[in-house]
Amino acid sequence: MRILSIFGTRPEAIKMAPIVRELARTPGVDARVCVTAQHREMLDQVLDLFEITPDVDLDLMQPGQTLANLTARVFMAIDPVLADLQPDWVLVQGDTTTVMAAALATYYRQVKVGHVEAGLRTNDKWQPFPEEINRRVAGVVADLHFAPTERSRQNLLRENVPIEQIVVTGNPVIDALQWVANQDFELSLRDVPTSDTRLVLVTAHRRENFGAPLEHICAALRDLAEKYLDVRIVYPVHLNPNVQEPVYRLLGDVPNIILLPPLDYLPLVHVLKRATLVLTDSGGLQEEAPGLGVPVLVLREITERPEGIEAGTVRLVGTDRLRIVEEASRLLDDPEAHAAMSRAVNPYGDGHAAERIIKAILEYPR
Ligand code: UD1
Repeated sequence: MRILSIFGTRPEAIKMAPIVRELARTPGVDARVCVTAQHREMLDQVLDLFEITPDVDLDLMQPGQTLANLTARVFMAIDPVLADLQPDWVLVQGDTTTVMAAALATYYRQVKVGHVEAGLRTNDKWQPFPEEINRRVAGVVADLHFAPTERSRQNLLRENVPIEQIVVTGNPVIDALQWVANQDFELSLRDVPTSDTRLVLVTAHRRENFGAPLEHICAALRDLAEKYLDVRIVYPVHLNPNVQEPVYRLLGDVPNIILLPPLDYLPLVHVLKRATLVLTDSGGLQEEAPGLGVPVLVLREITERPEGIEAGTVRLVGTDRLRIVEEASRLLDDPEAHAAMSRAVNPYGDGHAAERIIKAILEYPR
């Protein structure tokens, strides 16, 4: 059975890596990997870390790519790969442009699609934009839906996905996190405190936050840095120019805000383990931080990952400057409030998602 995994951005690579590695040692499976390289530098970091060498590298990233242009190039580039490799299954993960276009191109070739991290929904087509629609499109064409949680399974059932096509597997992000968190790593990043100071980890890169919301987030970070001189705010800044420009302009001169290039996954996980608090609009960190017992304030109005909120370790705070400062201050000032949110819980799986995903594919009726 030939199984082709297709991915393009850093988070897809992190979550697909455990599956790719497990497929490679599964008897009877001819495992192939195609990267679109929707992201060049950020993807390559992860491929190196997990020692994955793609069979096909489409190298599609262009600076400042538009959604339509990237989508068109993924379609054009993927189709000949499918024609050439003739896979029995294509696996895609999540909600990026790569996932949406690759899933649809695979359907056009009448090849089976497995969707990893299926069934996440906000039911608001603008938040996150365009990811909510990307994952719904992938879901429409998928033959097997690998739901990370029971809640995501229920979302799919409500959309009339046949019950036998949904498997609750956990999220392979936990497989990846466990693998990386257990590796020895000496945190020696320039300027990053190693023991005495408190560390707040920040990431923000969502399209719906571009412009005014991102500027409000930056203003809140500046307020927090001025209020808490004993805190170091560590912010690895996404390479998207719509993020780089305002963040460096607004925060480049604040002494206790440390702006870094995007971190490799290994140092990122180790910064996370050291963090007192995370402020983020990313999806992956909402899954990783609860696993490590670090409270998360989510810089969005709505999330497709409510499991962390229900577990009490994640709180939605939006992008209002005063609200962010108020919520972060509460956790920095009040040890009890912090303790209440810092229980390590893991609603997203047990680290064996990759095995369950492969088992479901092998057992699928031909
Ligand atoms: C994409 C995904 C988003 C995911 C994020 C993770 C879509 C629609 N969005 O958003 O869901 O959370 O990736 O990172 O697929 N760039 C580089 N080098 C890199 C990566 C990005 O220079 O390694 C710059 C390029 O100028 C590129 C721009 O970032 O044009 C935007 O990249 P793009 O993939 O279009 O969107 P993201 O904002 O990264």
